[in-house]
Amino acid sequence: MPGMTYRKATSADYPLLGALNHQLIRDEGHRNPMNVAQLTERMRRWLGTGEYTGRIFEENGQIVAYALYRAFAEEVYLRHLFVVRGRRREGIGRRAVHLLREEIWPRGHRLTVEVLCANTAGVAFWKAMGYREYSLSLEIMPDKRTLP
Ligand SMILES: CC(C)(COP(=O)(O)OP(=O)(O)OC[C@H]1O[C@@H](n2cnc3c(N)ncnc32)[C@H](O)[C@@H]1OP(=O)(O)O)[C@@H](O)C(=O)NCCC(=O)NCCS
Repeated sequence: MPGMTYRKATSADYPLLGALNHQLIRDEGHRNPMNVAQLTERMRRWLGTGEYTGRIFEENGQIVAYALYRAFAEEVYLRHLFVVRGRRREGIGRRAVHLLREEIWPRGHRLTVEVLCANTAGVAFWKAMGYREYSLSLEIMPDKRTLP
């Protein structure tokens, strides 16, 4: 991935990021029911207010990945990382995380990410990137009436 470049997402990218977010939700198996228009609007809110920062990774002028993160005083929370379909398992995700850590994010921060347990590719990827298990989120769905 030597030719991979990155840039900060701008308002012109919100529709594209909304569409890619929609693919990410499908690919990671998330329950979020929002459509592309709603996700685009959420991007506008998140990025327009500066709550989150988006970075777009490109190769030969083509978008190959995007990342969305939020920097706190002592933590960088990575909310989304998405590598386009058809370009996975080529090292693009690894390179993106490398660039984020080496060139983009502040140093010395705790790095966090949340991943759905059923997203086995995502779990394997984050572990390969050096992230370690810290907390476990548990639930009972409202339709599950069985009591212990
Ligand atoms: C998860 C994701 C970002 C990984 O990006 P990628 O470019 O395919 O990953 P890389 O090629 O850089 O893989 C780096 C390492 O991660 C691990 N890994 C990546 N994908 C894997 C998979 N499907 N199964 C097992 N291990 C995997 C491997 O150790 C891999 O190294 P190797 O190829 O030398 O074995 C990408 O699959 C994706 O966008 N998935 C859909 C969205 C998603 O789930 N995002 C993460 C949750 S926010």
